[in-house]
Amino acid sequence: MPQAWYMDDSSENPRSEHHLNPPQFVQIEKLYDLSGVEYWHVDVDNIEKEEQFAELKKSRGYDYEDLCEVSREALPDYDEKIKAFSTEHLHTDEEIRLFLAGSGYFDIRDKYDKWIRIKVSKGDLLVLPAGIYHRFTLDMGVCIRSF
Ligand SMILES: [Fe+2]
Repeated sequence: MPQAWYMDDSSENPRSEHHLNPPQFVQIEKLYDLSGVEYWHVDVDNIEKEEQFAELKKSRGYDYEDLCEVSREALPDYDEKIKAFSTEHLHTDEEIRLFLAGSGYFDIRDKYDKWIRIKVSKGDLLVLPAGIYHRFTLDMGVCIRSF
């Protein structure tokens, strides 16, 4: 299970954890009620055997996927892309992200407009509903599968 917590509002180094003082953690099971964000863990090393994941894709019609390795070597226009990911934005469609390697911070605004920071790493699958504000900050190289 990834850790998640409410963030402070400091604009210092976005790659640091930005805990409140004292820290206020958010249970992953509560994410949906707080924000509409859904979470699953996927065994990405045995993904072809993951029946729950296959069922999820089928039932929701996730039939398109795209692999994005977020590293300077692999991603054209790396600096611009990183900036776009880490700038608060929203989409008119769901955002579905499966993290295959590396780690980073996926920040979402909850229904009270407060930022929750989710530390994502290998095997974490997040589904963000349409219209929710979010951003992604790298803490290391990361490889993401999008649907
Ligand atoms: Fe996005």
